[in-house]
Amino acid sequence: MGFSKWYQNAIFYEINTRTFYDSNNDGIGDLKGITLKLDYIKSLGVDCIWLLPIYPSPLKDGGYDISDFYDIHPDLGTIDDFKKLVDETHKHGMHIIADLVVNHTSDQCEWFLEAQTDKISPYHDYYVWSETDQKYQDARIIFVDTEKSNWSWNEKAGKYYWHRFYTCQPDLNYDNPAVQEEMKNIMRFWLDMGIDGFRADAVPYLYQREGTNCENLPETHAYLKELRQLIDQEYPECILLAEANQWPHDLRPYLGDGDEFHMAFHFPLMPRIYMSVALGDGTSIMEIMEKTPAIPENCQWCTFLRNHDELTLEMVTDAERKFMWEKYAPDDRMRLNLGIRRRLAPLMDGNINKIELLYAILFSLPGTPIIYYGDEIGMGDNIWLNDRDGVRTPMQWSDDINAGFSAADSNRLFLPVIDKGDFSFHHINVASQADKQDSLINRLKQLIKIRKEFNFLSSQSYEFINRENVGVLSILRWNETHSLLCFHNLTAKAQEVNIGEEDYVLIHSSPGMKLNINPLDELFSLPAYAYAWIKLRR
Ligand code: GLC
Ligand code: CA
Repeated sequence: MGFSKWYQNAIFYEINTRTFYDSNNDGIGDLKGITLKLDYIKSLGVDCIWLLPIYPSPLKDGGYDISDFYDIHPDLGTIDDFKKLVDETHKHGMHIIADLVVNHTSDQCEWFLEAQTDKISPYHDYYVWSETDQKYQDARIIFVDTEKSNWSWNEKAGKYYWHRFYTCQPDLNYDNPAVQEEMKNIMRFWLDMGIDGFRADAVPYLYQREGTNCENLPETHAYLKELRQLIDQEYPECILLAEANQWPHDLRPYLGDGDEFHMAFHFPLMPRIYMSVALGDGTSIMEIMEKTPAIPENCQWCTFLRNHDELTLEMVTDAERKFMWEKYAPDDRMRLNLGIRRRLAPLMDGNINKIELLYAILFSLPGTPIIYYGDEIGMGDNIWLNDRDGVRTPMQWSDDINAGFSAADSNRLFLPVIDKGDFSFHHINVASQADKQDSLINRLKQLIKIRKEFNFLSSQSYEFINRENVGVLSILRWNETHSLLCFHNLTAKAQEVNIGEEDYVLIHSSPGMKLNINPLDELFSLPAYAYAWIKLRR
């Protein structure tokens, strides 16, 4: 695969604006705050920023409950602040994409308010109504911890309405052509401000049909292809990134023949990376990669370790989920729906070698990796906060008041900073890691640099080798001129690695570990949780 498209060989960075940086000290992170931190983001080696929803919202679901699709939430700034952020991001040589919440609105959205009271309003038909709550019984419930049904009774309308997420998030009715047009206009509204595309939220659920599970329906794909046509015709450099939490064979169709999404998150890979280090066995990574169908040449996977949601365990078997919960979520508070509400660093017990190992695995596999803000410094979580707020706490910039996030009174912060224990901002913050060569942030920067140097690491060609030792995940990557061998020790003990009769040079390894490699040896020993990337001189 050649790289003609900017998103195919890139590093993405996910930001929750409210908890990134507060520019006016009201306790809430804002768009100007991100603009002020662009140098920092750029210095990591990031190529594209993804912003979680920034629109007016009652915030019952972190802003995924939008009440006005054509404005900025006043807490975060103004449309002008947004345009400024987009321009400045571009000046920094980076791209920026926003969240497009296609599936639903807030129940506080004008459309819904009017729809429920006025049955002849054009907005009534923006939503999915029913006299009974018995339709579409084969559709699963996603937020199993809080929701009992995908139908809720609306007193004002005297009918039930359909919602795949929280009760306060009525689904839009895509059988209505007006809704189809509205979403296209929303796209144009934001793309006209210069953004580089969207991460499209919850795309499998746009249509519902009796007798199906109401996911991944042909009608849904047909409409998504229309959104792609709009992009190709009107904004050809922009991208669509799919959030479809599905098995590889259901995920693959979202890329179509290169005429649907440009990118899709690789959901099934993510939990298997955690599983592999817990088991000291890379089999599940190898299996899921081999079950992943080839993708069109203009597409790319977006790979990740964590994001703003719970670490979802929807794409694993029941036994695997049980294992993951027992291993990584021993306390009930750590569990949410079918997942685990913890951050990367605490999941790895703060062991920076293990955290780096996970990044190394991610970076040695095909795809464009995305880093969740704060995970570059190994931020912790607060499992006592509500819903998924525990993995969305303020960015820890320094050990100043409020972690350098805001100068507001601590009681006014949008979410509390983590100020206790091993992950407190007194220990874990950007400033204290900046000058330490061995810090997580600098190790990650180094990995990103190497990843960019060997840009074929993003490509789709790879081969698992040395498969007889499942304790070491060994991946061969190549282009016309170079071959890299990437060895990752998933176990708690040293492992012998056999390179065979090759002439090679060590490119990179866990900086924290004393690797003793003599390029004349066929064998070398890889310490516990260490990795080594080796270039073959062929
Ligand atoms: C996506 C978002 C999640 C949100 C849900 C409903 O899964 O990532 O945060 O709760 O959609 O919009
Ligand atoms: Ca603010």
